[in-house]
Amino acid sequence: MPHPIYIINGPNLNLLGQRQPEIYGAQTLSDIEVMCVAHAKTLGYDIVFSQSNIEGEIVNALQDGGANGAAIIINPAAYTHTSVALYDAIKSIDVPVIEVHLSQPHAREDFRHTSYVSAAAKATISGMGARSYILGLDAAAHVLSNS
Ligand code: DQA
Repeated sequence: MPHPIYIINGPNLNLLGQRQPEIYGAQTLSDIEVMCVAHAKTLGYDIVFSQSNIEGEIVNALQDGGANGAAIIINPAAYTHTSVALYDAIKSIDVPVIEVHLSQPHAREDFRHTSYVSAAAKATISGMGARSYILGLDAAAHVLSNS
């Protein structure tokens, strides 16, 4: 088995299912994890899935994924738009990092139009609801198959 793909989730994503479902959908983060585990299996990967509301813990998860993972999918949530620490963490690791969002931040408030993470990530997938994670896994597997 190759190294696992890390899927890292940022603040407030633990509330998916009840949090603004008109924007983020009805699925819980556990539902998304189950979908990701099943899809990753078809691609030949295990998943390490995490969520934190704390910026430094997300930096730690990125460093862990960089040391022990094949690739990283990250939904940085609100830290997308604020965090130089996440930008620096992604720049500090060698594995491909795919940024995903459930919604399409560029179609929302102006403050969501800047992503510190996009400036460091290999690719960004947004606006596809929970399917953004599945497409993120496909993107990661594609990058890995060409590396
Ligand atoms: C989000 C978009 C962010 O702007 C927002 O702060 C989130 C979720 C998304 O998945 O659509 O918390 O990353």
